[in-house]
Amino acid sequence: MDKLIIKGGKRLKGEVEISGAKNAALPVIASTLLVQGEHEITRVPDLRDIKTMGRLLENMGAEFHYEPHKAVIATNKIRNLEAPYELVKEMRASVLVLGPMLARFGRAKVSLPGGCAIGARPINLHLMGLERMGAKIELESGYVIASAKRLKGAVIYFDTVTVTGTENLMMAASLAKGVTVLENAAREPEVIDLANALTAMGAKINGAGESIIEIEGVDELRPLTHKVIPDRIETGTFMAIAGITAGDVTIRGCMPEHIKAFLIKLKAAGLKVEETADGVRAVGPARPNAVDIETAPYPGFPTDMQAQFMALMSKAQGTSIITETIFENRFMHVAELRRMGAGISFKGSTATVRGVRKLKGANVMATDLRASASLVVAALGAEGETTIHRVYHLDRGYEKIEEKLTMLGVDVRREKR
Ligand code: EPU
Repeated sequence: MDKLIIKGGKRLKGEVEISGAKNAALPVIASTLLVQGEHEITRVPDLRDIKTMGRLLENMGAEFHYEPHKAVIATNKIRNLEAPYELVKEMRASVLVLGPMLARFGRAKVSLPGGCAIGARPINLHLMGLERMGAKIELESGYVIASAKRLKGAVIYFDTVTVTGTENLMMAASLAKGVTVLENAAREPEVIDLANALTAMGAKINGAGESIIEIEGVDELRPLTHKVIPDRIETGTFMAIAGITAGDVTIRGCMPEHIKAFLIKLKAAGLKVEETADGVRAVGPARPNAVDIETAPYPGFPTDMQAQFMALMSKAQGTSIITETIFENRFMHVAELRRMGAGISFKGSTATVRGVRKLKGANVMATDLRASASLVVAALGAEGETTIHRVYHLDRGYEKIEEKLTMLGVDVRREKR
């Protein structure tokens, strides 16, 4: 497994270009299963998760051609309506093929994702919604087997806001008979991007980005041409990097309006943030102020930025309280940050971060994607060398991370195994 070796303690300065959003690209790619034909999606990031989604589609009979940063997908010859365990266990977002497969073919077999490093993450709400639309759902040997002659519109209320649940049902409802109303729907920019893609395919969707989404099913959709939105979490991660290194980083090709809650907290931490023509410039203070955060569904503070913000707070002046409300086990980075000298403790879903003046490079282990990103942030703010093990987690979600860091003046290298 590859390692990243990072020399920290330098004031970073430079420009970085943001890639397409992984969590927007994945559902948009899955949506191509809704209709036969050739689809073209651009600004698709060159990431392991995108390749896994491509393999999943190929396994079903689709043709998936990828060249950075364009995916051309032909969905004419789908013959295998299955998402096997081997692929779903690699990437939970594989479950996004369930809604479109069922809507187009009336049948789908998808491995249950199971728990993961950050929590139990059930898909009961996806299944509840499909059942309300008339699907028969059976669970057999770890697989969900769903069938329906044609899905019917329904009113579906989500007890918990779920991003991929909203996306799965929005895709399914696009080809259902009648109107579907999704209540307490996710409002994330990635949901809006998918709604825009579906609309370009001929779907009739109202309210994406609000908590009630109305979808009027249509009989047929057309192939897709779409450009994915920039990655707001990658954007935020580079801002945290500017913050912890007292750096001056210009982040190009991003949409700061997608991370407003994060920006408010970043400014409270003492960063100067100014919008530029095509992005944002972040200038870090000599030492950040301590700021409390609580994660929440969009437009709240994103759970996918919690770990990186904690890394920033580990060097803050004062004590900050970080509360994670989305996932029950998303503090795996705490033990690793402590290895670098951070003063963090946690009980249940609340972490107390007592800022220290200095972090020290150490051997640390990446446990999930955003935890890995927090280790990169901390390594850059630490004195000496940090070796991040199991960096494959990072490769799932950060395109060309070493190249981008090098552009900012970081001394970073990868050791391959
Ligand atoms: N939940 C249920 N039942 C369900 C679905 C969700 O109880 O049927 C719970 C989850 O266990 C969790 C909460 O609802 O406690 C929210 O989970 P959600 O379904 O919104 O998460 P997701 O759709 O599986 C997406 C992102 C995650 C991101 C979360 C929250 C994708 C592919 N993944 O996951 O991204 O953390 O939303 O914003 O869009 C990442 O990129 O590192 C990542 C983990």
